[in-house]
Amino acid sequence: MAKLVVANWKANLTEFSIFNFQFSMKTTVAIAAPFPFINRLQEGMIRAAQDVSRFKNGAYTGEVTAEMLKSLKVQYCLIGHSERRKYFNETKEIIEEKIKRLLEEEIIPIVCAQNETEIPKQVRDDMVIMYEPAEAISTENNFHPEDPEKVAKVVDNWKNKFKTKVLYGGSVNAENVKNYLAADGFVVGRASLNLEEFEEILKALEGRE
Ligand code: PGA
Repeated sequence: MAKLVVANWKANLTEFSIFNFQFSMKTTVAIAAPFPFINRLQEGMIRAAQDVSRFKNGAYTGEVTAEMLKSLKVQYCLIGHSERRKYFNETKEIIEEKIKRLLEEEIIPIVCAQNETEIPKQVRDDMVIMYEPAEAISTENNFHPEDPEKVAKVVDNWKNKFKTKVLYGGSVNAENVKNYLAADGFVVGRASLNLEEFEEILKALEGRE
């Protein structure tokens, strides 16, 4: 089955024009752009978001709601990323509310978890889970991915238990992506910021030159 590869740009990129993507159809690629860029992704590109409000539309200054994302044709949304849990104090309760908002708009939550206890009870088989230990996230040009055997174990276990797609995230790049084929796909941060680098990952996955 085609892998799902999600480019998570995080809070990066201000110059957008270089991203004129042409992707092969062998891999499903979704771009989790920062909110201001979502509507500038080219036609046909699968749109994802990095976060959503726990609230429905209303007097919540600064919030971006699931209904708004839906109107921008967003299909996936990362939820509970370890960076959001750490820097924005996202609790399980908040994460559950966000998942509810997304499901109301038929946007697929990509629930990010470092371990099983971070996976909310609401998870059902039409959602996606991403396994990413925080210490595997790339730092300042250093990639330090999780041990592939450990990843394969966790992925198989979660796939069996939750019947969802399970992605792996954490320092994925063109050199190491093939070590993680047990996963149904990947969430790629740093290596998705540069188009050539990102394409190398897709080529490695698809066996293209
Ligand atoms: P990284 O980030 O690929 O830069 O490690 C992935 C993520 O945290 O989504």
